[in-house]
Amino acid sequence: MSNLLNQSSYVEGIYAPVSDELTASDLRVVGEIPADLHGVFAQNSPNAALPPIGFPHWFDGDGMVHALHLDGGEATYRNRYVQTAKLAADRAAGRQLRPGILMPFDPADATPEPDTANTDLVWHGGDLLALHYLGGEPHRLDPVTLETRGIQTWGGALDCGVAAHPKVCPQTGEMMFIDFGFREAPWLRYGVVDAAGKLVHRLDVDIPQPTFMHDIAITTHHTVFLDLPMTWDQGALAAGKRRIRFNKETPSRFGVVARRGTQVQWFETPACYAYHTINAWEEQDAAGNTVVHMTGCRIDDPIPSTPHATEPTVPRLTFLRLAPFLWKWTFNLGTGAVTSEQLDDVATEFPRMNDRHLGTRTRYSWNPRIGPAPTLVFDGLIKYDDQGPTIAHGYGDAVGGEAVFAPRPGATAEDDGWMLVYVHDGDGSELRILDAATMDLAARIELPQRIPFGFHAAWVPGQELRA
Ligand SMILES: [Fe+2]
Repeated sequence: MSNLLNQSSYVEGIYAPVSDELTASDLRVVGEIPADLHGVFAQNSPNAALPPIGFPHWFDGDGMVHALHLDGGEATYRNRYVQTAKLAADRAAGRQLRPGILMPFDPADATPEPDTANTDLVWHGGDLLALHYLGGEPHRLDPVTLETRGIQTWGGALDCGVAAHPKVCPQTGEMMFIDFGFREAPWLRYGVVDAAGKLVHRLDVDIPQPTFMHDIAITTHHTVFLDLPMTWDQGALAAGKRRIRFNKETPSRFGVVARRGTQVQWFETPACYAYHTINAWEEQDAAGNTVVHMTGCRIDDPIPSTPHATEPTVPRLTFLRLAPFLWKWTFNLGTGAVTSEQLDDVATEFPRMNDRHLGTRTRYSWNPRIGPAPTLVFDGLIKYDDQGPTIAHGYGDAVGGEAVFAPRPGATAEDDGWMLVYVHDGDGSELRILDAATMDLAARIELPQRIPFGFHAAWVPGQELRA
């Protein structure tokens, strides 16, 4: 365990990249893969194709997707690089052309943070879209072969990047996304793509300063922006260094806009940070006002107040403090009032829900539990129920990634399905399939190679796969 949790570098141990791109069936299964579990579970993971320059960070590696295609109780594993322009250029040069985010960069460089597409996966328009946390080009992947099909521009209409964590409305098929800048305004850009693949709305949002944005939330009629006071030090950027500052005296701002609207209503709370939302929904209060509820994982102070971490020469991205707790906010669009409350005192992150209910009132979420380690690792999965007790599934001496909900075909209950999660020990990785309602282990599928501890995952339902 200690070897797993005390890595000195993001290219060692559970973070170490793998070099082989495999296709493998006849995998060893412990238990039984549910016969009606049909689809693709895929996770994006940073995987440096060439040795890094200087100190690497977890966020730096080239995007590699590890997928299990499940059908009729059988499983096929594939892993493939996302074929980015950055990867092609590095390979042509035989070396990494740029250092990672912890290292100084050339301020004259037009693209000092190249698009690795290593962060997120979103299923939309028949493509598995691989996305970068700083915003970039949506890379279209075949969900089964993982072949990179090209760049999604929605017919050339896209005039900005797309950051990680677009939200797809399960009722309309619309995809809401943001892109954010930190070198030049507009600092926030918002867009909506409809189910047919048409960019139907774009809005440049005026916010006071560039912030380190990461996620949004949607309801059936609104989108919520998180303008939180973790900012980029502009002086440092001009000098070729990246410094992230958390301004405790600056309020957090939450912006609510109609899905295809232009007027953003802002709500202020004391300073906080949140990487990931879970869900949002709207209700009418007794006075007829629309109230937007939002759940997520909130961090009170993302940068610890230690002498070491406040030293200005410290590469601050290494010291982001991960003490996020389940939280709920409410925004009253009629009165302008905002409230928030902490719902649990166990540190969790990378929360997910049943995406078929995204944007409407939900009861459950499944949150990886943060283990006792200096770096972010998850030692179990918690099922939260806002009307009942939590249930936890522990990984023992292993660590797990993001868990994704796969609905049982024909299911109507919100928690009727399975949670799928890659779990890693010192030598290898496996997929665990849990009953999402009970958190009982249904099956473990041993993978032909270790998977580096990665970022976000997606479930592509079998009935939506092309023949
Ligand atoms: Fe994320």
